[in-house]
Amino acid sequence: HAVDAQRTDLMTITRYVLNEQNRNPESRGDFTILLSHIVFGCKFVASAVNKAGLAKLIGLAGETNVQGEEQKKLDVLSNEVFIKALVSSGRTCVLVSEEDEEATFVDPKLRGKYCVCFDPLDGSSNIDCGVSIGTIFGIYLIKDKDNVTLGDVLQPGKKMLAAGYCMYGSSCTLVLSTGNGVNGFTLDPSLGEFILTHPDIKIPKKGKIYSVNEGNAKNWDGPTAKFVEKCKYPQDGSPPKSLRYIGSMVADVHRTLLYGGVFLYPADKKSPNGKLRVLYEVFPMSFLMEQAGGQSFTGKERALDLIPTKIHERSPVFLGSYDDVEEIKTLYAEQA
Ligand code: AHG
Ligand code: MN
Ligand code: MN
Ligand code: MN
Repeated sequence: HAVDAQRTDLMTITRYVLNEQNRNPESRGDFTILLSHIVFGCKFVASAVNKAGLAKLIGLAGETNVQGEEQKKLDVLSNEVFIKALVSSGRTCVLVSEEDEEATFVDPKLRGKYCVCFDPLDGSSNIDCGVSIGTIFGIYLIKDKDNVTLGDVLQPGKKMLAAGYCMYGSSCTLVLSTGNGVNGFTLDPSLGEFILTHPDIKIPKKGKIYSVNEGNAKNWDGPTAKFVEKCKYPQDGSPPKSLRYIGSMVADVHRTLLYGGVFLYPADKKSPNGKLRVLYEVFPMSFLMEQAGGQSFTGKERALDLIPTKIHERSPVFLGSYDDVEEIKTLYAEQA
């Protein structure tokens, strides 16, 4: 009987990236090596997350991070794992993490040409109740690795080479773009390999879901309030949209990417720059959305055009289906 071709012709994330590599041979496998270290970090965190409840890994670490947030044990552990994996890859020269106040400049002897900005554990408020959480990363090329400065990191998101996230949920899914579309890989724990399960992801042009923390409605500005109002009470006779909000950006963005719709973390009177951080939340997710045919807007400009001035800078973000974000852009243009 014919062997199930699928089982023997598995496309792993490593093979996928190597094929990509042939597209830009000048990186001589450095990118593949960098990615394999990121993948290792994701596998480590996936196993820690799965055991969290058992291995006493839930709860607070007793520290607070630069964001003024109480760090969870998994925040700290994940951060250490990714820093160590990225430094030991020998392919990075500067690292920016949500959990570290300052950027990490790699020992000159171990430097490579990439900068990685990452959120080692996204959705920390959901750790202790077992709701999906994730890791988010963005990769930049650094011109001169021996003289790298913070200025090299504070680049517009459109300069990113690659971006991705790993979602630790009912399954462990890694979604990646190296600038040539978006692909999703699912971890097969029996093989310890990420297998291509979602080739060439494209976000629906228009969606039926909006995703926002309605608890902040009191503080929203006019255009945001108007957009959400239109979702609930459409004037064109179309049915109201559904609200879906998980509270982990990775999970909310993953659902938006696959089902369509829009995810928003707007500015409000309390936080004029919104809550999400530019370098390791807004940029990577905006890069992925554009690569999947969607778009991402800050309320003022295309998110990937923003040039951050600090490594933990925040920005409002409206991302998802192309037509839905277009509606928001129109509302902000009317207010301008
Ligand atoms: P992190 O856990 O990495 O600090 O990120 C949490 C973020 C993001 O995951 C999510 O979209 C947002 O916080 C939720 O914020 P609210 O609880 O204010 O809605
Ligand atoms: Mn946090
Ligand atoms: Mn986060
Ligand atoms: Mn985080």
